[in-house]
Amino acid sequence: MAEDHTAGGHTSGLAKTHRTDRWWIEPLWTALGFLCFIVYSNWAAFQGDHYWHEAYLSPFYSPVLFTDLSRLGAAPEAHAWISVWPQWLHDIWPSFGSFKLPTSPAWLILAGPLSFRATCYYYRKFYYRSYFMTPPGCAVGALPQKKYKGETFIFVLQNIHRFTWFIAAAYIFILYWDAFVGLWQNGEVFTGELGIGVGTVVLFINATLLALYVLGCHSFRHMIGGKVDCFSCSAGSRARLGLWKKATSLNESHMLWAWVSMIWVGLADAYVRLCSMGIITDLNTWN
Ligand code: FES
Repeated sequence: MAEDHTAGGHTSGLAKTHRTDRWWIEPLWTALGFLCFIVYSNWAAFQGDHYWHEAYLSPFYSPVLFTDLSRLGAAPEAHAWISVWPQWLHDIWPSFGSFKLPTSPAWLILAGPLSFRATCYYYRKFYYRSYFMTPPGCAVGALPQKKYKGETFIFVLQNIHRFTWFIAAAYIFILYWDAFVGLWQNGEVFTGELGIGVGTVVLFINATLLALYVLGCHSFRHMIGGKVDCFSCSAGSRARLGLWKKATSLNESHMLWAWVSMIWVGLADAYVRLCSMGIITDLNTWN
């Protein structure tokens, strides 16, 4: 049977290809894996409760700007960066008819980390392949489009990635602080009893995985290694070269860190949530 060929030798039509390997496995598992994360993270963010347990704060809710003390498992007032949930925030909180969405501090802060992940070069690659199918793989036919614009028009917004990097970098410190708080009984830093629990370890791992992901970012490599004519001409440029090499070695496994840090943030939320709900008991040195 005659095949329809386009310029370059590729077959035309969605998922049409001369490839004989199982090219579809990667876009399929990334689509399903990311979908699971989106479903769980949205569900967790909507809850607005059980995000705090003794000294542990779910990373989905960090930092807590306002805490709604009427909710179960809410962060204590001392751990809210601004205050308890103010009346004006109650008043403007979205509602649909008589149904008012549950107040949740997560929605006040998630835009920052989400904008970073959503514009990450690796995430872009996989959602262009897995969800937009433009195309679903190398040398595989794409979803037909009237006019392919690439990363122009609305997708020119992807260029904010280099700026959102600074938000993500700030989160490394915020999440390490949360883990540090988890070293003190009831989160009473410097006044409570110093100890450690499984939750503390979970939170430290979470901050570290985020750091490994963020410090291997392509934009970060350009920031520290770009626009330098000579890497050996000054102490500053030699330091930049050293940092660039470290960022490059993390960057080589960027996909791995993207996935592991994303999965772990979900697991960390689940751990704090299950402890807060009394479903599991945290092993620690205090009790
Ligand atoms: S490219 Fe992935 S975090 Fe920047």
